[in-house]
Amino acid sequence: MSILVTGGAGYIGSHTCIELLKAGYEVVVVDNLCNSSEEALVRVRKITGKEVKLYKVDLLCQEQLTEVFQKEKIDAVIHFAGLKAVGESVQKPLEYYYNNITGSLVLFNVMRKFGVKDIVFSSSATVYGNPRTVPIREDFPLSVTNPYGRTKLMLEEIFRDLYVADKDWNIILLRYFNPIGAHDSGLIGEDPKGIPNNLIPYITWTAVGKLEAVGVFGDDYDTPDGSGVRDYIHVVDLACGHVKAIEKLKENPGIRTYNLGTGIGYSVFDMIKAFSKVSGKEIPYIIKPRRPGDIATCYADATLAKKELNWSAVRDLNVMCEDSWRWQKNNPNGYQGG
Ligand code: NAD
Ligand code: UFG
Repeated sequence: MSILVTGGAGYIGSHTCIELLKAGYEVVVVDNLCNSSEEALVRVRKITGKEVKLYKVDLLCQEQLTEVFQKEKIDAVIHFAGLKAVGESVQKPLEYYYNNITGSLVLFNVMRKFGVKDIVFSSSATVYGNPRTVPIREDFPLSVTNPYGRTKLMLEEIFRDLYVADKDWNIILLRYFNPIGAHDSGLIGEDPKGIPNNLIPYITWTAVGKLEAVGVFGDDYDTPDGSGVRDYIHVVDLACGHVKAIEKLKENPGIRTYNLGTGIGYSVFDMIKAFSKVSGKEIPYIIKPRRPGDIATCYADATLAKKELNWSAVRDLNVMCEDSWRWQKNNPNGYQGG
């Protein structure tokens, strides 16, 4: 069975390619490499000893995408490709809507043309906005506060409309919480371009001396230590969730939505401490004002994924930190090092 992975050279995509190959699937990647490197897939081949085909194609180019579907026999799609920086999306809404929405519409059209109607989509916990209570269940109200989040919510709605119109589609929407960590080989990991947006690259870059200190965005939230609390999930656990979702598609489930998180919340200070312990380095930090748009606490109720996908996260915080640290230490300049 052959899976088309859009955005497969990226952080979550490359880890998912490994788990798909390990599970015996053939993998075809479409990626324009706007936020990733071909080297990630070279390393996926090295880790698995298996082939993964890369088409350097932009989803916005219907002609080139059509050629991929003509050349390859695709059975199902995992759709990761998209721009993902919340702050940047506020500055560049048109770029975000065009790339994430139009790119996806082109993909769905080509899929329909070739009779491929099984898809797993990368959604995000961001669609829950500021939840009234935690843990967050899939049936909680949805709301978003920035263009990036809006592209996720809009795509979820588009999928729901698509399914109403054509029951041949099988669609699994996966709402990720906060992916961190890296493959335990230390060969692949997160390689953000420019200054990072997320907490963990900030911490690891500080630990290797690329940054002076981590800025803690607020220590006055209504949380046990005043800093923001999130559900950090190991990227390999997340990748395994996609393999389970592909298996679920074989049951013709219609449209389903699952949280992929651990169900446990850790604060910014917890994360700094955990990384300090694993790396053996002091990680300097400074308290900064709250980041606009951030919420105090966000963690998943992941029982539905356990029940229906037979999936749950198994890697704990220590493993997440060790694996992130191994990747960062071995590749201080990401994939540019070789
Ligand atoms: P990433 O940037 O590492 O991967 C995305 C990939 O998509 C990149 O390789 C990029 O080159 C490619 N891409 C972007 N636009 C494209 C286009 N028009 N055509 C072809 N390729 C294109 O990001 P990631 O962290 O691996 O995230 C994967 C998906 O998961 C994204 O949709 C993201 O929004 C979603 N997500 C990520 C997080 C997170 O914290 N990392 C959380 C929730 C959801
Ligand atoms: N934080 C800091 N300093 C930093 C960066 C972050 O203190 O330099 C704090 C934030 O305030 C927050 C926590 O660390 O409390 C996590 O922040 P991230 O930026 O790492 O992650 P977010 O929870 O803000 O957002 C991430 C992704 C979104 C996704 C969301 C939910 O970036 O795309 O998780 O899945 F939508």
